[in-house]
Amino acid sequence: MLFHQSALCFNHVANGPKGNTRIPPPSTKVIPPRMHAAIELLLNRHSTPAKYLGVPAPEGEHLDLILRAAMSAPDHGALRPWRFLLVEGEARAKLGALLAESFSRQNPDAPPALIERQREKPLRSPLLILLIAHLQHHAKVPEWEQLMAVGAAAEHMQLMAQALGYGSVWLSGNICGDDWLRDRLGLLPNERLVGYLALGTPTCAPSKRARPDPWAFTQEWTG
Ligand SMILES: Cc1cc2nc3c(=O)[nH]c(=O)nc-3n(C[C@H](O)[C@H](O)[C@H](O)COP(=O)(O)O)c2cc1C
Repeated sequence: MLFHQSALCFNHVANGPKGNTRIPPPSTKVIPPRMHAAIELLLNRHSTPAKYLGVPAPEGEHLDLILRAAMSAPDHGALRPWRFLLVEGEARAKLGALLAESFSRQNPDAPPALIERQREKPLRSPLLILLIAHLQHHAKVPEWEQLMAVGAAAEHMQLMAQALGYGSVWLSGNICGDDWLRDRLGLLPNERLVGYLALGTPTCAPSKRARPDPWAFTQEWTG
């Protein structure tokens, strides 16, 4: 079966540069039906804007599954170079106050309306997961590999959230490079904020995303 021509991929639109589209020959290996949902999830992962993330947020067993998904991210040396901070309820307003102050420190001439936008950002969705890279000295695993592992962990969480019927979006804005903010959040010297996931239940239908033709990004290396 040629999977990308099957009905399972209804939401997947190829829009690569003209002439680059390559239709691979059918595979002789059959994809087991029990894997179809997983494949569909991978092909249709999408973000949901934070303002369209309502209650309920994932909690209990669902939150546990989302965090558990992060633990199976590829991770050279099994360093687990990540740490997550859950922010919900009234803590979101406290985070908003920090974001507003961080923003006005970085932009002393910013109009009050822009500063207020920062304050409101965490309130848009019921749950935030702050993504922290917990970087370690390792002879064989440089920092960039550890950051990649954190990225994979974050996307695993997004995929699990979508599988469970939640929406999410990975945001960073202007918060990741601010030393003042990282101190307020209690980050250790070897830690780096790489953004946060906003999570909740989508209050809008997913917008169809045009995804590019993968073959426009793929060449064969023949030596
Ligand atoms: C590290 C990282 C930081 C991001 N920061 C932002 C951000 O601050 N604001 C934003 O609108 N999108 C940001 N994005 C992109 C969104 O999370 C999302 O991927 C994008 O809107 C495309 O939507 P899609 O995930 O449905 O393809 C970031 C993505 C990554 C990987």
